[in-house]
Amino acid sequence: MPCSAAASMGLRAAQTGFAVLVLLQCCSAYKLVCYYTSWSQYREGDGSCFPDAIDHSLCTHIIYSFANISNNQIDTWEWNDVTLYDTLNTLKNRNPNLKTLLSVGGWNFGSQRFSKIASNAQSRRTFIESVPPFLRTHGFDGLDLAWLYPERRDKQHFTTLIKEMKTEFAKEAQSGKEQLLLSAAVSAGKVTIDRGYDVAQISQHLDFMSIMTYDFHGVWRQTTGHHSPLFRGQSDTSPDRFSNVDYAVGYMLRLGAPANKLVMGIPTFGKSFTLASSETGVGAPILGPGTPGRFTKEAGTLAYYEICDFLHEATVHRLLGQQVPYATKGNQWVGYDDQESIKRKVQYLKNRQLAGAMVWTLDLDDFQGSFCSQNLRFPLTSAIKDALTST
Ligand SMILES: *[C@@H]1O[C@H](CO)[C@@H](O)[C@H](O)[C@H]1NC(C)=O
Repeated sequence: MPCSAAASMGLRAAQTGFAVLVLLQCCSAYKLVCYYTSWSQYREGDGSCFPDAIDHSLCTHIIYSFANISNNQIDTWEWNDVTLYDTLNTLKNRNPNLKTLLSVGGWNFGSQRFSKIASNAQSRRTFIESVPPFLRTHGFDGLDLAWLYPERRDKQHFTTLIKEMKTEFAKEAQSGKEQLLLSAAVSAGKVTIDRGYDVAQISQHLDFMSIMTYDFHGVWRQTTGHHSPLFRGQSDTSPDRFSNVDYAVGYMLRLGAPANKLVMGIPTFGKSFTLASSETGVGAPILGPGTPGRFTKEAGTLAYYEICDFLHEATVHRLLGQQVPYATKGNQWVGYDDQESIKRKVQYLKNRQLAGAMVWTLDLDDFQGSFCSQNLRFPLTSAIKDALTST
């Protein structure tokens, strides 16, 4: 519904006292696209996250990750996906404006398999035709493509896949149903973008495109560094001027992505390193990834709720140029986002008139509100929402 119609509805509703509710729910200008990952259910204790933990009023779109492709048809990944789909889609009873999408692919799926399906007209058709019935059966409003990442030889096929999928969605909607949404998660790395995406073409057929503006820095650099800096650091010793949010967003726009379809990724996780010496700044030598978190158990990556634990007696620094914080304790170093860096990032995306923010992921935020001591559930995602809705 157009905003003016929504506003007048809001005025009318004021008489009945629902104005605030109506305006908030129907007229939010920015998208807040939130990923949920099904494997988060297996984290132990307080780390275990099921879709019923998600606040139904937080995001405009929730994307369930990931679905599989089996015999060229979209398929479940986890044994209990169907139950979890149902739990997730039940949130829409309490927030009728919430849209849910199912993401297909991901890191463990493998680019090769996508490549095979997309490059053959027959298997591509089989896949595309399998999607609408699957989404409708399980109550989703759309599909998110997480092909990580198309290679040079896949570029044209990726475009064709998106174009044909969109056509199928339009055809399927002729029966009077609301048309299914189509989005894609795209890399923020310049090399990967150049290799795999015809940005102008794909964005024409997608409803929105989420750019994964994080993981810019990792152990391969052999030094400490923030993985999701908003800008290039002033004292950045690295010759890489591409590894920051600002460059990636600007590059996508220059390549022809319309701002109103581009959704900027914000991580609820940090990237950690084990220091090799007493040097603790940016660019300090490292031995390798940081110690695995108690719940996420993956060397080099910490959930925000684990970072909140880490921050007790840690030293926090803010990178003025890059506008993000890092913390050190003993021989551990972690670059992450907090409420303050998120404010900056949201201000940035608003200045650029982007479509909104994407969060990877809800289950890595402090979803129970029990770690970050503010008694607030989803402190980071809530900070994004607040910044998006404030004027
Ligand atoms: C995904 O589909 C492939 C192809 O059918 C299958 O080999 C694989 O086991 C499936 N993965 C999961 C997690 O079900």
